[in-house]
Amino acid sequence: QTEISRVRNIARIQMGGYEMESWYFSPYPASFTEADLVYICEFCLGYYDSLQTFTRHRAKCTLMHPPGNEIYRDDNVSFFEIDGRRQRTWCRNLCLLSKLFLDHKTLYYDVDPFLFYCMTTRDQHGCHLVGYFSKEKESAEGYNVACILTLPQHQRKGFGNLLMEFSYELSKREGKLGSPEKPLSDLGLMGYRKYWGTIITNLVIEHERSHDPSNPTGAASAATPTTTQTNGNNTNHTTGRNTSTSASAASASASATTHSGLSIEDISNQTAMTTTDVINTLQTKRMLQVYKNQHVIVLTEAVVKEYEDARERERKKGIVTRRRGIEGEKLVWKPPV
Ligand code: COA
Ligand code: NA
Repeated sequence: QTEISRVRNIARIQMGGYEMESWYFSPYPASFTEADLVYICEFCLGYYDSLQTFTRHRAKCTLMHPPGNEIYRDDNVSFFEIDGRRQRTWCRNLCLLSKLFLDHKTLYYDVDPFLFYCMTTRDQHGCHLVGYFSKEKESAEGYNVACILTLPQHQRKGFGNLLMEFSYELSKREGKLGSPEKPLSDLGLMGYRKYWGTIITNLVIEHERSHDPSNPTGAASAATPTTTQTNGNNTNHTTGRNTSTSASAASASASATTHSGLSIEDISNQTAMTTTDVINTLQTKRMLQVYKNQHVIVLTEAVVKEYEDARERERKKGIVTRRRGIEGEKLVWKPPV
């Protein structure tokens, strides 16, 4: 589409008490280019190029949450599922809004084939949109996310991570493995790398610890493949220096397991991530190595330190138990048939 290369046409928007700059072109009415500020109704996502018309609208708009079923609620957030076919206008408005912050091709018009999972925070005024992802009703490629966005005023607070976690929670409920649609934007890739890395390393570390409680760091035991136990030189295996080489062939490394036997397929099944995403993440984190012709999943010192630092930050913040992510048992949802 030619629209992609068009220049940014909307300078600033105001929404839900926040004012922000737009990043990219979005096909709002051509006349809106003249407006200093475009007003977006935070509930119906309607758009107005003057305070007067916006104020008139707000006096009439009765919507207090996204127009769909609330399928998840915890202390912090609610998720709503919206069908693009049933709520065409609302979903088109959402796509127009999100195009302001997405560089590559997104749909604005044909929303029918998509479901939209909208994350909100709640207060006495209603459920306020924080971010969303769209998902094809049928994805031939097995994508579990089409577009994903945290509204700019809420970015870098962990909401993107929650959206990603929720998308995998849906995949788990479907009994499927999923992956986001490619290509990812730079921000999308950074967000997913962080998500995949955290989930996988937490899983591996906690699995190794629970299978060898005598080893509270989990590091050495996981990093030392069974076949090397007679070799006293553990430190080198742990860091991956000298004795280990990086596994490059993804197909060959698919058979790798941790010291206690956790395989790539196990990780994939427990997280609903594709084995490709698991393998790429392990490689990025230098956790896939070859030792004595055997592919192994190891915990490097860096990975264990990252884990310990995160736990330490949580303790300092007074979070006694684990970070509250998406609690799967609170999802009231069956895969659409
Ligand atoms: N620079 C560097 N790293 C970043 C980043 C940035 N601007 N934004 C996110 N990250 C990485 C960080 O590792 C971050 O973890 P940290 O804050 O602990 O360092 C991690 O991603 C997750 O951050 P989080 O706060 O959970 O994500 P978010 O709410 O900011 O949302 C996106 C992430 C991708 C949804 C958001 O950036 C976005 O909406 N971007 C515009 C739309 C887009 O490009 N979507 C993807 C299309 S495929
Ligand atoms: Na979870």
